Amino acid sequence: MAATSLDINGKTVSVTAAPDTPLLWVLRDELQLTGTKYGCGIAQCGACTVHLNGQAVRSCQTPIAAAVGAKITTIEGLGGTHPLQEAWVKLDVPQCGYCQSGQIMSAAALLAEKPKPTDADIDAAMNGNICRCGAYQRIRAAIKDAAQNASGVAVAKA
Ligand code: FES
Ligand code: FES
Repeated sequence: MAATSLDINGKTVSVTAAPDTPLLWVLRDELQLTGTKYGCGIAQCGACTVHLNGQAVRSCQTPIAAAVGAKITTIEGLGGTHPLQEAWVKLDVPQCGYCQSGQIMSAAALLAEKPKPTDADIDAAMNGNICRCGAYQRIRAAIKDAAQNASGVAVAKA
């Protein structure tokens, strides 16, 4: 099978999966980028969220053919030092943790577009990311904390 070239976290990688293979499986099984999680597989939970050219997308429903030529960013690509990741640690956001990389990727796309999001902005960006542990309040607080620290401007507390 012909190889497919993808740009993932700033590196060009060659993968052998068929063009209609969901990006999620290629990330996890072929490239061992297991920070991106499988939740529902049907675009309903957000656990598999990654960025395609800065936009949050569901990798379980994104065939690799649709990602060719795009800049793909996974949770590993944030490097552990993104203001959101620091806020997540500071506020001890995760409970089981399973949904959290998807939550952070959705939030990162939001802050890249709107560095000082309103509550409505946060709701709109995050309402597709399900957390079975119900950590929503801490997630919201951490997004606000990250926005504050990234911009140096105070924002309303959660
Ligand atoms: S695993 Fe992709 S949205 Fe649930
Ligand atoms: S922290 Fe457990 S599902 Fe969100």
